Amino acid sequence: MAELTAVAQKVRQYMKEHEEEFLERFRHLHQHPEMSFQEYETTAYIREKLTEWGIEIMDVGLETGVIGLLRGAKEGPCIALRADIDALPVTEESTIGYPSLNKGVMHACGHDTHMASLLGGAQILAAMRDELCGSVKFLFQPAEELNLGAKKFMELKCLENPKVDAIFGMHNSPEIPTGTVAVKNGPLMAAVDRINFTIKGKGGHGGIPQRNVDPIVAAAAIIQAAQTVVSRNTSPIDSAVISICNVKAGEGTTNNVTPDEVKMYGTVRTYRKEVETMIDRRLHEITESISAAYGCEGSLEYIYELAVTENNPTLYDVAYAAVTGAGAQPVDPVPSTGGEDFSEYTSKSDVPGFFYWLGTRNEENDCRYSWHSPHFKADEPCIAIGAGTYAMSVFEAVEALTKK
Ligand code: NI
Repeated sequence: MAELTAVAQKVRQYMKEHEEEFLERFRHLHQHPEMSFQEYETTAYIREKLTEWGIEIMDVGLETGVIGLLRGAKEGPCIALRADIDALPVTEESTIGYPSLNKGVMHACGHDTHMASLLGGAQILAAMRDELCGSVKFLFQPAEELNLGAKKFMELKCLENPKVDAIFGMHNSPEIPTGTVAVKNGPLMAAVDRINFTIKGKGGHGGIPQRNVDPIVAAAAIIQAAQTVVSRNTSPIDSAVISICNVKAGEGTTNNVTPDEVKMYGTVRTYRKEVETMIDRRLHEITESISAAYGCEGSLEYIYELAVTENNPTLYDVAYAAVTGAGAQPVDPVPSTGGEDFSEYTSKSDVPGFFYWLGTRNEENDCRYSWHSPHFKADEPCIAIGAGTYAMSVFEAVEALTKK
């Protein structure tokens, strides 16, 4: 193994000496979860900590969420670090010793681990400001769960003034063990699209079908045909998901009235633009043609909601070195068909980005439940690793970008 740089040694020492402080903040944040765009106390808490360490709070008119700026001792590139801060409407049932104090709200996706890690990273970077050639922008982003927080930050031009040269983010992962961090080249999380179907027929007496045009039979045929887009139109080497998750027709439990209309809602997940546009086209063809064949009128609203979270290959070596520098084990993960609004930062700008998964699985400690489960529990030692990985990402990126 390559010898540790002086910077990495210092970061590791700081991780060790301040771990208890990092964990105090994690426990506090875990106990005080807040819903998307309502993260008021969380925002005040983050502002207070950053200010304490001499990090400037950027005044961009945010109600919730914080953008902080740390200027290093010397000029250099600007690196952005992002963490999301919102919680979910879930009632906690985990075995953690310090459960949520906000009834019905829980950090069930572990965004508290991201905040605690980024606060730890900020504390390390502020303490090592003399060794920093460049600046760091801290993006504590609200409302990731609504896929709206990153959009809001982009509207506020969060990657400008100063112009960001590279951005890093992370999500915890209960799929990989504590002590590991996933470092993946290319697509890590899927593009997320929303599909809204309307099938219009002519309702009437369910016992006298010849007088009606039944949109339910047409909808059933559309549901069946939609499955063939993945099995017959998508290359076996590519991956895609089409799930119709919500079908609405008729009133209450009425059993003898054919309705005028069926509404259906679903989600599409893809990793490549070509596959995504093909699915958009095929679902339109299927909806319109099958509806017409059944005498109905069918329309599809296909909404591109989130782009793929795709790691920039130019940052792979930086990310790998950051993880090993922080003393964690890099692993090559299987991508997820979950989505992440981190993709807003990279797909709507020319800034290269890299997204990590921070391992939090520890079965002995009951840390094995998936995201959004009421039993979700993150393994505490992941926080120092997250903090170190954030801090090292800055030092490694500054070095790589300065060399160029
Ligand atoms: Ni999440």
